[in-house]
Amino acid sequence: MLSITIKRLMLGSAYLLAVAAAPLARSTAATVSPQLASATLLGDVVDPNLQRDSCGSVKWDTRVLWTCRDTEILVNQSVSLLVYNNTLAAFISSSASYTNFKADGTPDVVAVDYDQYGYDDELIMYGDNGETSFYPLQSDECNSNEAGNCNDGTRFALWPSVPPTIASQSSDGTIVAYTFIRVEHITDTLGVVNPDPPTSLYRLDYSPDVQGVGDTLPSVSLVDEEFWSLNAFAYGDYGTVTHDGYMYLYAETSAYNIALAKVALGDVEDKTKYQYYVDGNWSSTPPVNVNDTSAYLDHPGAGGQGTYYWSSLWECFVRKTRRGVTTLLSTPRRCISSSLNSLENGRFQGTSG
Ligand SMILES: *[C@@H]1O[C@H](CO)[C@@H](O)[C@H](O)[C@H]1NC(C)=O
Ligand SMILES: *[C@@H]1O[C@H](CO)[C@@H](O)[C@H](O)[C@H]1NC(C)=O
Ligand SMILES: *[C@@H]1O[C@H](CO)[C@@H](O)[C@H](O)[C@H]1NC(C)=O
Ligand SMILES: *[C@@H]1O[C@H](CO)[C@@H](O)[C@H](O)[C@H]1NC(C)=O
Repeated sequence: MLSITIKRLMLGSAYLLAVAAAPLARSTAATVSPQLASATLLGDVVDPNLQRDSCGSVKWDTRVLWTCRDTEILVNQSVSLLVYNNTLAAFISSSASYTNFKADGTPDVVAVDYDQYGYDDELIMYGDNGETSFYPLQSDECNSNEAGNCNDGTRFALWPSVPPTIASQSSDGTIVAYTFIRVEHITDTLGVVNPDPPTSLYRLDYSPDVQGVGDTLPSVSLVDEEFWSLNAFAYGDYGTVTHDGYMYLYAETSAYNIALAKVALGDVEDKTKYQYYVDGNWSSTPPVNVNDTSAYLDHPGAGGQGTYYWSSLWECFVRKTRRGVTTLLSTPRRCISSSLNSLENGRFQGTSG
């Protein structure tokens, strides 16, 4: 059982890059092809006692919140298997951390004496994960352990693909955010039980008055384990972006087709309030299932994990994906028309890289 989980755990760490956008002539055309002018390595993002799979980050009041996939809790910076006597006690399917900014607004990168990966600079992550998964496993997800490992050799792998999406933030720093996670049920050969599984919706609550600004992580609660059902588009799992009071939620199917839904930021928990982009228009009727071609976007998704964000320079939404560390340096892709409201007329354009 243990070998299954360890296989998913990538050794190594994350790299923090500062990217600069290349100037681009403003255009009213529906498509642009953004290029990155440069990327500067700032350092290594690391929690000295956590070793984990891919993370995503979101600005979180005065700090940054990172959420990550499979995490091994280390003890004194060494792999804890021996410490934990070959149990899964210190293996969790998701974790979270904070990082700080300096007074000038840049990430609080500190000089270190040449870390184990050869970096001179580190952005130190912190936060108390205890020994439980940040996104809690449910009783029908083999939650007798924090990895979701079942007795039959399968595993419920609750891996966040995108960082939490903030739905509201008050002036006192109180935040409500959401994460959609496909309930992947994988086999011991890393196959899938259902190619297009249900999707859970989790809610995060944070307030500086409650959690403080130290190690205490936001609280996480399950809104609906099957918010999107089996064989439905997993809206919000592939990517999200907020704009003009709406959350836009992207889904990717097992056949790599992309679909889009939107909902007002105050209505994320109310499934009846969603609108689906179908046949070139927003509709309150959801597509039939993942094979409903009327819902597919002309969106040449490269798949995998990535982040949608608004670029004021390019005046469009871009998606940056990562296929191997070096592709972080390549062009952001999926730049869509300058306003999502004109999406009806917009086209998606991919660039190489
Ligand atoms: C970790 O290091 C501290 C300080 O050296 C030591 O007291 C402690 O026993 C170590 N813990 C483990 C589990 O090795
Ligand atoms: C591992 O086993 C040793 C020896 O039986 C025991 O003292 C220790 O408490 C165990 N550690 C854990 C984390 O269970
Ligand atoms: C979608 O189409 C694929 C390929 O034809 C098929 O294997 C799958 O069962 C279909 N899914 C649903 C939900 O109809
Ligand atoms: C989208 O909706 C508008 C207004 O309801 C309608 O005129 C148009 O024909 C629709 N477009 C498509 C592709 O169905």
